[in-house]
Amino acid sequence: MKPLLEVRALTIDVPKGEGWMRVVDGVDFSIGAGERVALVGESGSGKSMTARALMRLDDALRIGGAIRFAGEEVLGCTEAEMRALRGSGIGMVFQDPMASLDPFMRVGDQVAEVLRIRGVGRAEAHARAVAILAELGVRDAASRSGAYPHEFSGGMRQRVVLAMALVAGPKLLVADEPTTALDARIQQQVLDLIDDAAADRGLGVLLITHNLGIVAGFADRVLVMYSGRIVEEGPVEQIFAAPAHPYTRGLIAAVPRADMRVDRLPPIDGAPPSPARRPSGCAFHPRCPVRLPVCVMTAPQLRPSGGGSVACHLAAAEEAMA
Ligand SMILES: Nc1ncnc2c1ncn2[C@@H]1O[C@H](COP(=O)(O)OP(=O)(O)OP(=O)(O)O)[C@@H](O)[C@H]1O
Ligand code: SF4
Ligand SMILES: [Mg+2]
Repeated sequence: MKPLLEVRALTIDVPKGEGWMRVVDGVDFSIGAGERVALVGESGSGKSMTARALMRLDDALRIGGAIRFAGEEVLGCTEAEMRALRGSGIGMVFQDPMASLDPFMRVGDQVAEVLRIRGVGRAEAHARAVAILAELGVRDAASRSGAYPHEFSGGMRQRVVLAMALVAGPKLLVADEPTTALDARIQQQVLDLIDDAAADRGLGVLLITHNLGIVAGFADRVLVMYSGRIVEEGPVEQIFAAPAHPYTRGLIAAVPRADMRVDRLPPIDGAPPSPARRPSGCAFHPRCPVRLPVCVMTAPQLRPSGGGSVACHLAAAEEAMA
């Protein structure tokens, strides 16, 4: 069966001075219909850039490679085709709900607007907006749909944003750090909502997060990103039980535990590199506790490992010896 979304050799360059700077460097992944995939990695690894490229949200970027959604080549779409794809093909939820909402527009109208621009009549659009807000747990949705965003709590705003992403019936939901701005209890509620809404609709989901802790109960498959590349990919059980990449191991070791009061620990010593100063060879080598001499010179390629893939010289050597 053809995957719902297929991303091949994706590169993303951002304008820098006279030239370009590569922030995503040859990313491959696919998402099947109804499949839940988590994209994890520290800040600056290129997660949001990858998500935004799927929807072609930034004109200023130079995007290379191939992005196929439901068999269609996204990078070849006209702007009109892109407008149809956004919302009815791929729905997207961003990290900061306030930035996605118009402060001067009633929330019900904002959800209805997604349908109105697709030619749905006013009354029907409004009725469907109220119905989806109610489904997503907005109590008294009929009257609350007349409120403005500032009258809603953070968790409630995220429900409105989720309603906007889902109301036009997409096949894939891209959720970029949908819970980061919320407190832990509300985070779980929003994640459960996404879980239920996706299950009811058979949606594929790309969940972007730097928090591996929320991934275990949600995703089927995990993509680990470091410095613009996928360094490990595999079924969620394998990633947690037998992570092959030293970076993945570090991320898992840093998953906050319920018995600790700190909710964000630095995953691994040191900071991720800026794309302008990506280290030679394996980009993780300056921070890697088990690096080999070859790591400084040669970039490891992503190769099959267990049920997934890993890009690491040591993992490849260990596998060859096993
Ligand atoms: N508009 C832009 N122009 C230039 N560089 C950018 C732009 N947006 C992001 N970058 C750079 O591209 C890299 C990837 O950014 P991206 O936002 O995709 O990271 P991320 O993995 O989503 O991080 P976070 O977890 O902080 O959201 C970063 O180094 C960032 O500084
Ligand atoms: S390739 Fe080398 S430096 Fe990179 S993660 Fe593997 S062992 Fe560490
Ligand atoms: Mg981001």
